[in-house]
Amino acid sequence: MKKTILTFAGLSCCLLTATAADVDFVKEIQPIFQKSCIECHGPDKQKGKLRLDNKEAALKGGEDGPAIIPKDAAKSDLYRRITLPKSSDDVMPNKGELLTKEQTDLIRDWINQGAIWPEAAAPAKVAKAAPSVPVLELPKDFKPSAQESEAVAKLGKSGIEVRLVAANIPWRDANLRNQGTNITDAAIAPLKDIKSLVDLNLATTKITDAGLDTIKDLPYLQRLHLELTSVTDSGLAKLKGLTNLVYLNLYGTAVTDAGLENLKGMGYLRNLYLFQSKVTTAGVASLKHSLPHLDVSTGWELEAPVKKVEMKDEKKEDKKEVAKEEKKDEKKEEKKEDPAKK
Ligand code: HEC
Repeated sequence: MKKTILTFAGLSCCLLTATAADVDFVKEIQPIFQKSCIECHGPDKQKGKLRLDNKEAALKGGEDGPAIIPKDAAKSDLYRRITLPKSSDDVMPNKGELLTKEQTDLIRDWINQGAIWPEAAAPAKVAKAAPSVPVLELPKDFKPSAQESEAVAKLGKSGIEVRLVAANIPWRDANLRNQGTNITDAAIAPLKDIKSLVDLNLATTKITDAGLDTIKDLPYLQRLHLELTSVTDSGLAKLKGLTNLVYLNLYGTAVTDAGLENLKGMGYLRNLYLFQSKVTTAGVASLKHSLPHLDVSTGWELEAPVKKVEMKDEKKEDKKEVAKEEKKDEKKEEKKEDPAKK
């Protein structure tokens, strides 16, 4: 069916009022996206929650809804943005060269002609300069075991709630922070059977290094809060196998550089919090060397700028290190990026 559309694309022009020659997505549009947009709207980053590297995501749009309205370039936010003056806050691409008039006209015509995006168009690849960031995918066919349900019930009885992250998916999270000092190693023991646990908050609890045995084999754990606990390097050694971690908070713990060695195999790790721990600039630099995509927040830049980790061409990372957990303001973020760093 799609093939037919392509093959007879030449005919469709006659049915539309547009006089422009038919635009070929693969030859004319995809390369523009590839060169000027994918860096921020592709597999590595999804600024404004928009991806332009595959049909489904691109047509779905971003934070502000669909950016491409087939047959109506004038109503398409994507076209509006690429035709704004450079001084505008909304202009895309928001750094580097603007698109040429020829390119924006092509995109306009392509949208007006129905934004045809052949299913077969290979997803655009990121420019080779940008190292690809590994992204964790959870298995689609995960089924919780009987032990798991028992463990959830058991914990529930002792007041520890292990909730589903959302309806219709099997993944769970548990936030024990508020129960703080009531949470001991023994209290969390049943967690070891809850393989669906993806997010666990043990901050401020009485958990010890020994207690981390409970969670060391949870295969899908992605976010782990251990801040303000008595966890030390020997605890981190147990967590070595949690290679799916994306977020780890060790703020206010006694971990040192030796402990960080255990994190080097965590290829998905993106955010690591180490304020008021015992790590040094050298330890952090060594970890960053193994995990170049990692954002490490040490809080040093807030205390004594002199002690700041040396990262020659990584100004951007430095700025991001300000104690900010969630990046709320994407736009601000972008502005801070050093345009020279590409
Ligand atoms: C250097 C990074 C960067 C590049 C390159 C870039 N964008 Fe963006 N884009 C952003 C950021 C940041 C946002 C979110 C802030 C905003 O809405 O302005 C965004 C948002 C958007 C949105 C709005 C999404 C929504 O729903 O909120 C559209 C449409 C868009 N970009 C299109 C493009 C197109 C088309 C290109 C290529 C011609 C492009 N962008 C290139 C950074 C970039």
